[in-house]
Amino acid sequence: MNNRIAIVTGASAGIGRATSLRLAKDFAGIVLVARRQEELEKTAANIKALGAEPLVLPADLRQPEAVSEIIASTKSKFGRLDAVVNIAGAVPQIHLFQMTDQQWNDGAEMKLHGARRLAIKAWPLLKESRGSVVFMSGNSAESPKPGFAAVAAINAAIVAMAKAFAEQGIIDGVQVNSILPGPVMSNRRIGFLDKWSADHQLSIDDAKEKFLQEAHIERYGKPEEVAELIAFILSPGARWLIGTAIRIDGGEIREYSFPHGMRSDHRRRRLPPQGFHPRPSRPLPPQKCPGRRPGPYILRNHLTPSLSYRSSSTTHPPPPHHSPQNPSDETGYSPSDR
Ligand SMILES: NC(=O)c1ccc[n+]([C@@H]2O[C@H](COP(=O)([O-])OP(=O)(O)OC[C@H]3O[C@@H](n4cnc5c(N)ncnc54)[C@H](OP(=O)(O)O)[C@@H]3O)[C@@H](O)[C@H]2O)c1
Repeated sequence: MNNRIAIVTGASAGIGRATSLRLAKDFAGIVLVARRQEELEKTAANIKALGAEPLVLPADLRQPEAVSEIIASTKSKFGRLDAVVNIAGAVPQIHLFQMTDQQWNDGAEMKLHGARRLAIKAWPLLKESRGSVVFMSGNSAESPKPGFAAVAAINAAIVAMAKAFAEQGIIDGVQVNSILPGPVMSNRRIGFLDKWSADHQLSIDDAKEKFLQEAHIERYGKPEEVAELIAFILSPGARWLIGTAIRIDGGEIREYSFPHGMRSDHRRRRLPPQGFHPRPSRPLPPQKCPGRRPGPYILRNHLTPSLSYRSSSTTHPPPPHHSPQNPSDETGYSPSDR
């Protein structure tokens, strides 16, 4: 395993730099990509100290031709490629009504298309090595707001694109996943908090605190924690992890979702204040689905549609749309639920 080679984009700062350093423990060579050469050189010096071989490739990933150069240089120096970690991202966090077409295009060109082009160009080498790709998304994909609509939309697109790559990867032997960090303390996050503090007329320290309270998390993530997750995804023990979108966010997003997007609740749950005592549970609202008889709440296990879990031990005959004579309802939900 010690001859493995990884490309890490965004390696000049934040999560990308932390990931490069972490992967230097598991990979023989790390290709470092970002625009600022002097910052890449700093990462490279640390990688050398950890015993891996760095290759510094300054590139602007908005330029379509940049990826050909990255792959050609990787091939000529190392002769192989085992992982592509797409971390670079600089989508501006500007209000939906203020963001220009140019800013939208620039953000997408870099974070979405830069990553897409690099993965495609790297694919033949990854097929040869049965390698891996990690795409960087973010929690905003699941919780978009007008103040950061572009990064949210691009992050959501990245999750979908990663899933499509993963499907192709199942055929070609390439493992693909995406990750969605919550607020991680990096230069990018500090830039966001600077703006946020001004908007809320707060000092930066107060803004940091207030943001945590509003996100209902205990602390900010560290770039090293995201790096550790990426190292795990790229480790041999995680090889069966395919096509997933993994959140790492200190619990910022509380989600209760059903497979296949049938029902989901992406709202953030407000944590009760200390000393809060929950009220006794209220009766369930009336059933909206006309085909389902009122009665116990049914949570269906989608993997084994013949099973259902009921909130009480009372048994009822199955409602009409559950009958095998109605093949349109394999899942047990009426069309109005979908
Ligand atoms: N920090 C968070 O809270 C958070 C949360 C969720 C997701 N993320 C995502 O994680 C990724 C890294 O974020 P970070 O917080 O570590 O930010 P960061 O410290 O600002 O790092 C961004 C990296 O992207 C590189 N980059 C920017 N534009 C580039 C371009 N045109 N071509 C090549 N490289 C470019 C930067 O290098 P150069 O400036 O040298 O080009 C830098 O290395 C981003 O995709 C971000 O959206 C971050």
